[in-house]
Amino acid sequence: MAQHWKSETDADGIVWLHFDKAATGTNTLSGEVLTELDELLQEIAAGAPPGLVILSDKKNGFIAGADVKEFTNLSDTEDAHQLIRRGQGVFDRLAALPFPTVALIHGFCLGGGLELALACRYRVADEDPATRLGLPEIRLGIHPGFGGTLRATRLLGAPAAMDLMLTGRTISARAGKKIGLIDHAVPARHLHTAARSLIAKKPAAHQAKGWQALTNHRLARAALARFLKHKVAAKAPPAHYPAPYALIDLWREHADDAAAMLDGEARSVANLITGDTAQNLVRVFFLQESLKSLGKGEDTESSPRFGHVHVIGAGVMGGDIASWCAVKGLHVSLQDRNPQQLARAMQRANGLFKKRLKQPRLVQAAMDRLMPDLAGAGLPRADVVIEAIVENLEAKQGLFRDIEPKMRADAILATNTSSIPLEELGQALQRPERLVGLHFFNPVAKMQLVEIVAGDATNSEEAGRGAAFTRQIGRLPLPVRSAPGFLVNRILMPYLMEAVALVEEGVPAAVIDKAAVDFGMPMGPVLLADTVGLDICLSVAEKLSTHFGGAVPARLRGLVESGDIGRKSGRGFYEYKGRDAQIPKTAKDYRAPTDLTDRLMLRLLNEAVACLREGVVADADRLDAGIIFGTGFAPFRGGPMHYIGHIGAGVLAARLRELADSHGSRFTPDDHWTRLLETL
Ligand code: NAI
Repeated sequence: MAQHWKSETDADGIVWLHFDKAATGTNTLSGEVLTELDELLQEIAAGAPPGLVILSDKKNGFIAGADVKEFTNLSDTEDAHQLIRRGQGVFDRLAALPFPTVALIHGFCLGGGLELALACRYRVADEDPATRLGLPEIRLGIHPGFGGTLRATRLLGAPAAMDLMLTGRTISARAGKKIGLIDHAVPARHLHTAARSLIAKKPAAHQAKGWQALTNHRLARAALARFLKHKVAAKAPPAHYPAPYALIDLWREHADDAAAMLDGEARSVANLITGDTAQNLVRVFFLQESLKSLGKGEDTESSPRFGHVHVIGAGVMGGDIASWCAVKGLHVSLQDRNPQQLARAMQRANGLFKKRLKQPRLVQAAMDRLMPDLAGAGLPRADVVIEAIVENLEAKQGLFRDIEPKMRADAILATNTSSIPLEELGQALQRPERLVGLHFFNPVAKMQLVEIVAGDATNSEEAGRGAAFTRQIGRLPLPVRSAPGFLVNRILMPYLMEAVALVEEGVPAAVIDKAAVDFGMPMGPVLLADTVGLDICLSVAEKLSTHFGGAVPARLRGLVESGDIGRKSGRGFYEYKGRDAQIPKTAKDYRAPTDLTDRLMLRLLNEAVACLREGVVADADRLDAGIIFGTGFAPFRGGPMHYIGHIGAGVLAARLRELADSHGSRFTPDDHWTRLLETL
């Protein structure tokens, strides 16, 4: 008796195979699920029905992909290869069934789930925007392994298939219909009829035609492969991210030989999945899941509880927090004492809505949800109040005194302060235990992390509600203590200041940035400082140096005094044309200092270790998650603490001591490194 599948035969003899994975809310393909499917397919084949429909009984979607948990146990390439070949075998048997097969899709249909759908003769999908189709394996450092590389390229032609597999992006049912991935995108109520009609009429199965089919031809493949590699290289260097290159090579070598392509696909995925990059990216996936689970409870994204947010301060942050909440379906009132600021924020919001929501109807609905509110009329009704006014203790305290009596007693009261201790802000409140920090990062629409800051007085239930709200707006909550700079700015700042010190020593900014990017950072520290704004960097650096010592580089202060505060002023460390930095060419014979990368990264790692000692976050995994999602720290390295474990705490602490000898006490290893030697 199958645990995860249920098969029903209707009056016409059509078999409806329902996937409803036991003891979980989401369908994923585990070894056990595939074994059951294999047995069922053999039984169904023996009955020779007029057709087979595969569908999901889960509310949230069809199939989310392979069961990623099973990836973490794979260390032997041969074992991995066997496992993948077995999975391929099941899908091959599905593809070879002599009667029509239909995947009936709603919600997410990702990775192995889409590969299963691709092994069916037809695919029909719910046209609702909640339907998401994609092959996101590349994000875990692998590529499709259950025949998806072969079936997608043959079905869609190489450009569309490679685009899906190399970017890992997801598309809607309608977009899927346009590229030929889906046969019919219909309203949910018509799905069953559409499946029946395909089985009755048996139209020829879709496949790439004309020039799309030609892209899989041997002669086209060589040129296209070169082009694709060039495109990928701009984002993912081969040394750090081998999967996209392995995928392109696989297709270039074997696309016209199905058997060789399948075998090559299995070998390639087996190699990738047992390698460091994939194992670390899988780790990052679980870190992300664990942050997501912090906002769990009744207030999840799928069952929203907070309906109305009131944001005070319509500057860079407040304006963007408000518009993001409106994108996510909340009603928002946005208060500022300056009407021009409100007008500017509304204009920026309109830009965001157009970019994110595209359809004019949805853009209009989001605009209707966002109300400029000069007088603060929305305050008494709000479920959540977020303060994002100027970074000034007296101003914020004054505001709190004013708003606390007007707010609902059960509303969340949050501050977006980046540097003022919650204990000081709370002094202005009658109930300081209700104040929680929701520290968003700039730009709000891009940065996934929100630090959930708890002060000494903060009630843990309030912090939990802050995390639940953060999940409701699709962001990742990271609980941190109200220590100066919290976690992310605290760890980032020494690294940025070291970059400025290197500039002062005459190292070209572009060379510094390249060293960090080569390590795996998404952007170099000098460009990052310019992007954040040198005024903001200076103010955070000054605050942190009063707490932790260390000098703020004179060059930074000088630039801010002369008004060159980075990208927003047109000049900082770099010059800007519009939003683009003009990166000067480095002289050919320039030799960078050999300790450049170590100087940058070890300051970051040393500060991470100090934060762990101080308990700024609960543990090393949370720290890694915070730094990956808050700064983009090289995900393929699995996070700063994981990296320390990988290289060896002893090796890195010794290197810090050498740097302290040659460059000064800022490199003195934190005391906690000795503890790490025992634990990592
Ligand atoms: P901003 O200067 O761009 O905006 C502040 C806004 O608050 C202005 O529109 C001002 O008119 C308004 N305002 C001031 N006092 C007010 C009052 N009493 N009532 C109503 N409106 C008032 O500042 P920004 O950069 O948006 O920062 C806001 C907060 O967010 C600060 O606490 C800052 O530390 C924090 N933050 C800033 C980040 C950044 O990258 N800019 C990142 C994360 C947090």
